[in-house]
Amino acid sequence: MQNSKNIEFNTETLELVNRIISRYPEGRQKSAILPVLHIAQSENSGWLSSETMDYVACLLQIQPIEVYEVASFYSMFNLQPVGNCMIEVCQTGPCWLNGAEDILAHFEKRLGIKPGETTADGQFSLKTVECLAACGNAPVIQVGTEYHEKMTTGKADELLEKWQSENKCSHTNPYL
Ligand code: FES
Repeated sequence: MQNSKNIEFNTETLELVNRIISRYPEGRQKSAILPVLHIAQSENSGWLSSETMDYVACLLQIQPIEVYEVASFYSMFNLQPVGNCMIEVCQTGPCWLNGAEDILAHFEKRLGIKPGETTADGQFSLKTVECLAACGNAPVIQVGTEYHEKMTTGKADELLEKWQSENKCSHTNPYL
């Protein structure tokens, strides 16, 4: 799936989606909505367009509104285009107490963007999120399927350099 027009998964992805749906009893295919949304987002450059969500509704044989309400509830789903690297900074108590504010401020300064924004070259987006469930190693950030724990501004610089030199980050499909 390359864009939000003419949405259609390729055969491999469609087989995967059907395998996931088949885990649930007949008539309960909506239970597969979270993994299918993750796959759809990964296949659509890291975000869910309304056309993509409509396609997911079609696959799950449910109403589009049922997909919209789930996709708009969880912070891991993006409803607008995002950069190649989506940097998610945890801002909940334990991370905040351990320097998340400094980490966020550092990314803001280095990238010249605020949470909810994307760099002009389309490479990075920044977002604040609630607890990433790794509080013991706060402060924590998530980028695609990667967690980076005990973050420091030095680590942030190293990661930015790596992502910039590789010219990519991961919208990796966690189910493939
Ligand atoms: S508070 Fe940041 S991972 Fe839990």
